[in-house]
Amino acid sequence: MKEMTQLKPLIEVNQFSFDYEQINEPLISEVSFTINKDETVLLMGPSGSGKSTISLCLNGLYPDAVEGVASGDIFFKKTNIEDFENGELNQNVGIVFQDPESQFCMITVENELAFTLENIQTPREEIEPKIDQILETIGMTDYKYHNIHELSGGQKQKVALASVLLLDPELIILDEPTANLDPVSSLEFVNLIKDLKLETEKSISLSSIKLMIG
Ligand SMILES: Nc1ncnc2c1ncn2[C@@H]1O[C@H](COP(=O)(O)OP(=O)(O)OP(=O)(O)O)[C@@H](O)[C@H]1O
Ligand SMILES: [Mg+2]
Repeated sequence: MKEMTQLKPLIEVNQFSFDYEQINEPLISEVSFTINKDETVLLMGPSGSGKSTISLCLNGLYPDAVEGVASGDIFFKKTNIEDFENGELNQNVGIVFQDPESQFCMITVENELAFTLENIQTPREEIEPKIDQILETIGMTDYKYHNIHELSGGQKQKVALASVLLLDPELIILDEPTANLDPVSSLEFVNLIKDLKLETEKSISLSSIKLMIG
């Protein structure tokens, strides 16, 4: 019980329900759970059960970005996520989408990472050093000037993760980060996450990893 008192809740979900259209049985029905600082959480469920949906609700993108009906509450560090300004919450709760390609806005790796840093008003002279540093962290220094769309699936996942890491969030949600990767790339990505968790002081939480069968 002693450890229990040291847990610091980052996300608290309280009786949360969500559906894309109001029907009798919502997709997500009265779900409650907590993600504490430094915790690694695994969200499991069959395809179509709503893992991506709830992940997008946790950082405030949903329900605003879709036609959806939500009830119940989600708190980030004790503040209801509805009370955050636009864009404020997704700097604290970073998400790497299930299809990372859909979150890129620029053509090259360098420009994509610069775009993220510009969005958070990083001083101009700090942009290049931060890009170089994060590329080193993810082991992709040689790909700085590459076209993102010509990278492998695993490399795209890493660039999406780098982009999220630049925001310095307290919680990172990875939505099935290894689902489209071969076993070697999956292992590489998992090891990268493990190293990051060991090296950085911030907590990294994982969500929605698809169980690999066989
Ligand atoms: N934008 C949307 N509008 C309407 N329905 C949607 C939308 N996005 C998802 N859905 C539906 O909601 C349900 C849950 O989808 P979701 O993507 O959250 O599941 P998931 O658990 O992440 O599945 P997977 O393991 O295949 O990624 C599915 O039936 C899906 O068709
Ligand atoms: Mg999904």
